[in-house]
Amino acid sequence: MMLHVPNVLTAEQVARCRDVMVRADWVDGNVTAGHQSRKVKHNLQLPEESQTARELGDMVLQALYRSPLFMSAVLPKQVFPPLFNRYDAGMVFGSHVDNAIRSHSTMPVRIRTDISATLFISEPEDYDGGELTVEDTYGAHSVKLPAGDMIIYPGTSLHNVTPITRGSRIGSFFWIQSLIRDDSQRSLLFDLDMSIIRLTQDHPNHPSLVTLTSVYHNLLRQWAEA
Ligand code: NI
Repeated sequence: MMLHVPNVLTAEQVARCRDVMVRADWVDGNVTAGHQSRKVKHNLQLPEESQTARELGDMVLQALYRSPLFMSAVLPKQVFPPLFNRYDAGMVFGSHVDNAIRSHSTMPVRIRTDISATLFISEPEDYDGGELTVEDTYGAHSVKLPAGDMIIYPGTSLHNVTPITRGSRIGSFFWIQSLIRDDSQRSLLFDLDMSIIRLTQDHPNHPSLVTLTSVYHNLLRQWAEA
């Protein structure tokens, strides 16, 4: 399941990210690349052990945990500390699949990357090119979102970032290990949860709400790796 999660960061938080990042020290993005992706990755990153990445990452994490849409769609067991990258004109990230297991260089974090996430920090009009393209069974999907918005997609997906031809594209990227490993099971739970929320709004006293809610929790109980 691919999902657009709007307004993860406020305009003020986006501005703070940009303000910090113009003064930050960027390094070659290949410091965290796997063997295969190293050949196709051409971008810059904030070092994951840097104080800047840590502080901005904490701000992103807190924003994520305040987003009901994110929580429902992802059912997070653990979120990797968010990283930050920058593509200037001429930079690109060719087609690849993210590493299945991801460890942090300084924190005791090791997760299975069930879900990949990209949070856009530059506005779309600040750069040309730089679309995130994700392939799934229904074809390739091209994504370029407003600053503060996020896309999540299965970690199993082939994806790439098209070449930047003007300006700079700054974003945050990270992975999530979900309580629900299987993408199709997670999608079913998300659809059920969203339907219960809509039904609750339209018919708050509908007797089926109790049954549907218990079905949701009992499926979660059956499937979750807690
Ligand atoms: Ni990737």
